[in-house]
Amino acid sequence: MLTQVGIVGAGPAGLVLSHLLARDGIESVVLESRDRDYVERRVRAGVLEQGTVDLLKATGVGARLEREGLVHHGIELRFEGQAHRIALSELTGGRAITVYGQQEVVKDLIAARLAAGGRIEFEAAAVGVDGLEEDAPVVRYRQGGQERQLRCDVVAACDGSHGVGRESIPAGAIALYETEYPVAWLGILAKVAPSTEELIYSYSQGGFALHSMRSPTISRLYVQCRPDDDPASWPDERVWSELHARLAMPGFALAEGPILEKGITAMRSLVVEPMQYRRLYLAGDAAHIVPATGAKGLNLAVNDVRILADALVEWYRSGRDDLLRGYSAACLRRVWRVQHFSWWMTQMLHRFEGESEFDHRLRLSQLRYVCSSRAAATTLAENYVGLETV
Ligand code: APR
Ligand code: PHB
Repeated sequence: MLTQVGIVGAGPAGLVLSHLLARDGIESVVLESRDRDYVERRVRAGVLEQGTVDLLKATGVGARLEREGLVHHGIELRFEGQAHRIALSELTGGRAITVYGQQEVVKDLIAARLAAGGRIEFEAAAVGVDGLEEDAPVVRYRQGGQERQLRCDVVAACDGSHGVGRESIPAGAIALYETEYPVAWLGILAKVAPSTEELIYSYSQGGFALHSMRSPTISRLYVQCRPDDDPASWPDERVWSELHARLAMPGFALAEGPILEKGITAMRSLVVEPMQYRRLYLAGDAAHIVPATGAKGLNLAVNDVRILADALVEWYRSGRDDLLRGYSAACLRRVWRVQHFSWWMTQMLHRFEGESEFDHRLRLSQLRYVCSSRAAATTLAENYVGLETV
């Protein structure tokens, strides 16, 4: 098979890239190892920055997002049994977040690509990328029990944190910067109306909890747990009792409902530098991982491919390759800003095993400052809704 841009992975990064390239007449083929139903059902995060929403709407895949997305102009920080609202829009000149599940974004993009005649090969697992040294990349993939080849001008590895793209780069050509957090998140999807209008990030003696949602009838909730915890050690009663305890506040009642999905997410930070090797470009989780506390993973993936699409469009249009050569540097400015913000939110809102009472009181001081200083609240707000420039 032959195409201009070979894309590995039909997550937000791969699908947005294919969509943006098609708008400028650039052909691509997306190889996805899972089937369509799986990628459209996979529960992941659900907070879209202003910039992500603007891009999806401006490029014609925002109609359902506009109808069903929940626009929020604030979030709540809850600690010491009190609620503190961070007025996101007021502090950022009107910018907001939109709560809209990642799998809904994926569904909209797949539908739009296929309706436009785009090529997405499902159950097509890439096994390696050859020909990089000769600038004639070939993606080898397995589909229908056969090994096949996709010849292309460039490859975009949008294959997530365990993809083959990064593995195809000679070890010495990239560096990995990473850290792991000694906590994880146990997340549930529950069939119950959210007990809050806006997201609640809670810090309590028992640790972190988050009340998010997916729709007026579906809640998404998280509690911090041990990294080596097994979901089986978290029966529904325990999940709800921990949520009640960590979200407790006079006048607040948390409604319970049937748990539809339960899973544990590790918390780690990873950055790959550079995010490119010859004609192979890494984007999204293939290039960087952030802890979920800042709700940034999907938004960072979209930012990468927006930059990559612009660079490829210019390369195909004029032959200029300076934007392509500057791809990694352009992305990494925001990647490290977002890494810091996500690390900072994680430090500020979690309790870590073996820490001292001093650490706990220091964290309370940080939280009180963020909620009492307009300057500090603005820092959180502008990073949370997404910085326009970095
Ligand atoms: N061949 C083909 N497809 C692959 C391969 C492979 N060898 N390996 C992985 N994939 C597919 C996965 O099945 C997945 O659909 O690549 C896709 C990667 O998508 P994501 O993991 O969603 O990554 P990305 O598009 O970068 O989006 C980042 O996703 O995980 C969340 O929190 C993360 O929000 C962030 C967002
Ligand atoms: C979610 O809705 O799944 C969500 C929201 C905010 C976060 C992480 C996840 O920080």
